Amino acid sequence: MKFTLDNQPVDKIDTPCIVIGIVDGEGLTGSAAAIDQSSNGLLKRLVESRDAPSGIGKVSLLHDVPGLKAKRVLVIGFGKREKLDRSRFNQACMSAGKFLRNHPMDQCHICLHEIQPRQASAEWSMRQAAIAIGRANYRYTATKPLKNDAPVPLKTACFQGPAEQQPVLDTAEALIHGYNMSRRLGELPPNICTPAFLAQESRKIAEDHAGVELEVLGEDDMADLGMDALLGVSRGSTHPARLIVMKYSAGKADQSPVVLVGKGITFDSGGLSLKSPDNMTQMKYDMCGAAGVIGAFLACVKLQLKVNVICVVAAAENMPDGNAYRPGDVITSMSGKTIEVLNTDAEGRLVLCDALTYSERFNPHSIIDVATLTGACVIALGHHASGLISNDDSLADALIDAGEDMVDRAWRLPLWDDYQSQLDTPFADMKNVGGMSAGVLTAGCFLSRFTEKQRWAHLDIAGSAWKWNANEGATGRPVGLLTNYLMNIAAGGKG
Ligand code: BES
Ligand code: MN
Ligand code: ZN
Repeated sequence: MKFTLDNQPVDKIDTPCIVIGIVDGEGLTGSAAAIDQSSNGLLKRLVESRDAPSGIGKVSLLHDVPGLKAKRVLVIGFGKREKLDRSRFNQACMSAGKFLRNHPMDQCHICLHEIQPRQASAEWSMRQAAIAIGRANYRYTATKPLKNDAPVPLKTACFQGPAEQQPVLDTAEALIHGYNMSRRLGELPPNICTPAFLAQESRKIAEDHAGVELEVLGEDDMADLGMDALLGVSRGSTHPARLIVMKYSAGKADQSPVVLVGKGITFDSGGLSLKSPDNMTQMKYDMCGAAGVIGAFLACVKLQLKVNVICVVAAAENMPDGNAYRPGDVITSMSGKTIEVLNTDAEGRLVLCDALTYSERFNPHSIIDVATLTGACVIALGHHASGLISNDDSLADALIDAGEDMVDRAWRLPLWDDYQSQLDTPFADMKNVGGMSAGVLTAGCFLSRFTEKQRWAHLDIAGSAWKWNANEGATGRPVGLLTNYLMNIAAGGKG
């Protein structure tokens, strides 16, 4: 989808649909006021009759509004001013995006950014409105093509405003690319999206974009490095594991890179600690950490950010088999630390620990791993926030702020020593499960043992990466949070 700008008065705009927002109980302003005037008070009457959409994200579609060139006006409710924060602004724009996606128009004219929630600028509103509309425009087509009579997607969205604001829309476009790449990978079925497939998709990114280097390690390479934790997980699968490494170095040569590490379990059956059928149905999404870091990497490359970024994906499939790793096995990770595997379903931390150790060689500025790691995170935080665990306060703050600003929020959880002893075992340096209590924290504790020398953060996206049971698929998160973090560093922030 392309974004353009047009600064003519709205009544002169020739478009299938003008999209405006109204805030409950507030007078009409900007383009809404202009439309009201050209139409002899039609919008005011709509409000007075209480037919105007008042609740957040509610919509009314008006046809043949007098005095306008446009064929339709779509009115979006933004709810009450007191409640209008960045998240609710986003919700209203998402609802506009879904409406446009499901109706037969391939162009529109957007004025939603004339409304600003608190703590946000006009530029912010334009960027977020564009991102919301671009994300809503996505459709899954890989194994179910759109029907011929399906509503057409938007080809272009024009924003009310001067041409100088194009860079804001270009930023939005890059983010949409990232989000939708992440979402597409997340939603592909596990018989298609294998570790080799993820490597191939990464190769395409490297081929299509100057300045991206790619290295893919196979199982023999990983065996040479001693990655027996990652390889242990993969042993039951007929699809061999890959360690995918993409580099983008547009920052200063002496600037250490941000390393993004993604959990890429292309299917998590649980292995010999087999999941119940109900718990297994959604486990194609267990590579959403990988999808998120690949998407953020792509957005960063499209934006040509002046940063050094390395994306490391630990891609494997967790299956039961005669050759699979067993509960009770003790394996030696690449770091040399030994791990007693008491549950083969706690596999994410095993692939990640070797990827984290591998990443040390890049002498990172910061290292952020992203994983659908624990069901316990979903119990704690539900589906709105990603769980954030970090050994560095400034890094944690930078990530939380980046997420708030993109409405891709994370919430920090403690990394206290008190929890570490839950990983004690007489038979190895640690076991891979920490028992019933605080499962999200003991998973974090486990990973922290492989990043002691680094500025490290972990994002548990088990609840935020896809819409559980809603048949709506992946969200593409946390592409917004990660890309914004990189954008802030490129702009001279500390990160
Ligand atoms: N991929 C799962 C975590 C998960 C479960 C994400 C459900 C999203 C929805 C992970 O590999 C896993 O199985 N974790 C176990 C850990 C336990 C065995 C310590 C869990 O959360 O139950
Ligand atoms: Mn598992
Ligand atoms: Zn898993």
